[in-house]
Formats: sequence, structure tokens, C-alpha cells
Amino acid sequence: MASHYLRIIVVVLVSLAAGSTKHGFGEDSGLVGLPFSLLSPTEWTHRPVFIQAEGNNTRLLKSDNEFRGGLPLDEPIAFESDIFKGVIVIRLAHTTFDDNKPLPTWQCQFTLQGQFKEPIRMDELYMGEAYDRPLVGMPHPIVMKAVRKVFAFLVPGIQLDVDHPKHPRVLALYGGTVTALRVDKPGKEPNIAQVSRSDMAESSLLLSDKFTTAKARKSTLSRPRTASSLEFDTTHVYTFQHQDTVMNYTSYYANLAPGLIVDLIPHLDGQAMSLGAITNDGRWMFRFRIWNERTLLEWRKNDRRCE
Ligand SMILES: *[C@@H]1O[C@H](CO)[C@@H](O)[C@H](O)[C@H]1NC(C)=O
Ligand SMILES: *[C@@H]1O[C@H](CO)[C@@H](O)[C@H](O)[C@H]1NC(C)=O
Repeated sequence: MASHYLRIIVVVLVSLAAGSTKHGFGEDSGLVGLPFSLLSPTEWTHRPVFIQAEGNNTRLLKSDNEFRGGLPLDEPIAFESDIFKGVIVIRLAHTTFDDNKPLPTWQCQFTLQGQFKEPIRMDELYMGEAYDRPLVGMPHPIVMKAVRKVFAFLVPGIQLDVDHPKHPRVLALYGGTVTALRVDKPGKEPNIAQVSRSDMAESSLLLSDKFTTAKARKSTLSRPRTASSLEFDTTHVYTFQHQDTVMNYTSYYANLAPGLIVDLIPHLDGQAMSLGAITNDGRWMFRFRIWNERTLLEWRKNDRRCE
């Protein structure tokens, strides 16, 4: 089952990018998402990448000043949102690993651990991208309609609105998408710093005795109809690990397939991609933006109003 949301967006972008390169800010593109608080890239700790919590919905438990050069990679970051309180560890293959170690099979990994503040039904929580501005070079509506049909069949529950005129989104059910899930009684959860350093083993039997493997859990939780009978409750500690093999945040190129590597910068209109999950009613469980120096250049190139 092709349930990887990033692969999907890239497939869509690639298959449709052909006719599109003319590029510029539309009338109502506004200033939403401008990274005013970013320092000059020369001061970024993990240049060319700068990771930032989306302040309005993902509040850091340490003061922003400690993270002036960007959030740390490979270290637990404590945060709280309206529906979740926990810790995240983000790793990027080319920034985190030294030359002596073999590179991992993924390009970006996050490990997230904590507790929900209220029960959230599993067909209500989605993972993926929600943009503030239109994407550039999107397909003709007729093509999009066909693409949506195909994906609705392949990945039930996917929200594939990359051509939305104001707020494009590509979202798939969170519980059916994450690479590995652990559900533990409080106090029994694994040490996050430790599990983030390797591939986490699935352990979600506390949710359902059918969840003997990650594949079994994904197959139930990627479909809204079957996911709706389960919820993320407030009594357990959840540990999610997600490994992304497609998106290279160091270059902002997506590795679609061997030999097929696509630059996403021309499509994003200066917007930074993010790691995050959002409920159907618009509340973010977490959201961390991953800026790249090239994204920032694109932003500046396209909008002289911010100079
Ligand atoms: C955060 O919320 C404030 C107040 O509602 C709003 O003015 C601001 O634009 C928001 N920031 C972002 C990045 O959405
Ligand atoms: C990701 O991008 C960096 C910087 O361009 C590059 O060195 C690296 O080889 C890329 N990784 C992959 C797997 O393509």
C-alpha cells in the first residue's frame, strides 16, 4: 500500500510539473509564513537547515532564546500543544551523522513521545503538509481530479488538495502512516534519546490484539472507517517514530526513485515544509518547520516587500 504522503506529493508534483515554471507571487499571497525570526544563515547551528517550532500551536517548554540558532538535531525538545504534551527528537541523515558512520536508510527521522491531553479518535488525526499559500506549477483541474481518484483508491482517507487556491494540503491518517508506534503504560515507556538512535520496534498491542506488526496496525489505521473505532487516549504514553526516505531537507530535493530527484523549491513559493500532525478540526498536535537556506533565498527573490 503506497501510503507515504511525501511520496505522493512528489509523484503529483513531478507528473504535473511539466508545463509550469512561470513563477511569482499572486495578488493575495500576503506575508503569512515569513520567517522574520530567522537569523542570517551564517548563524544557523545546522546550516543549511533551520528548524523552528510553529509558535502558535507548538509551544516550547524552554525559552526561544536558547534556540536562537535553530532547534537542535538529535536532542530531545520538550513542547506542548493544545492536544499533546511531549518531547521530539529530529534527525537528518546528512547533518546528524559523521563521515565514519554509514548513512541510515532514511533521510529524515523524528521520534515523538508523550501523552494526549484529550482523547482523539484515530480517524481525526492526520499527518502531512498544510500550506499557507498556493503551490506553484500545479496541474490542470481535470488532471488533478483523476489523480485524486487514483489516490482515494490507493490510500483511503488521503486529503490531496495540492491545487487548492488558498490552502493546499496533503494529509494522510497519522496512525496509519507513522513507521513505528509504541503504546505503553506511564513509566513503562522507552527512553526517547535511546530509541531515537535506532529503528524503534513496533509495540502497539495495547491498542488492539490484531496489531502484531507495524503493517497490521497501518492497514487498520490508514482507513478512516476502521480507524474510527480506536482513539488515542489520555492514559497511555505514545511513542511515534517516523522515517522519511524521500525528502532531503538538506537540499530540498525529493528522491522519488533511484535516479529521479526533484527540486521542490520552485513549487513551494518560498514556503518551508514541516513535520506535523493536525486534527480534522484544525488543531495541530505538533508542527516543526524545516527551513532551508534555499527556501529563504526563494522567499527574498520573490518578495521585495520584505526588504
Ligand atoms: C499567531 O497568533 C497571532 C494572534 O492570533 C497572530 O497575530 C499571528 O499571525 C499568528 N502567527 C502565525 C505564524 O500564525
Ligand atoms: C541530500 O542533500 C545533500 C546536500 O545536497 C547531499 O550531500 C546528499 O547526498 C543528499 N542525500 C541523498 C540521499 O541524496
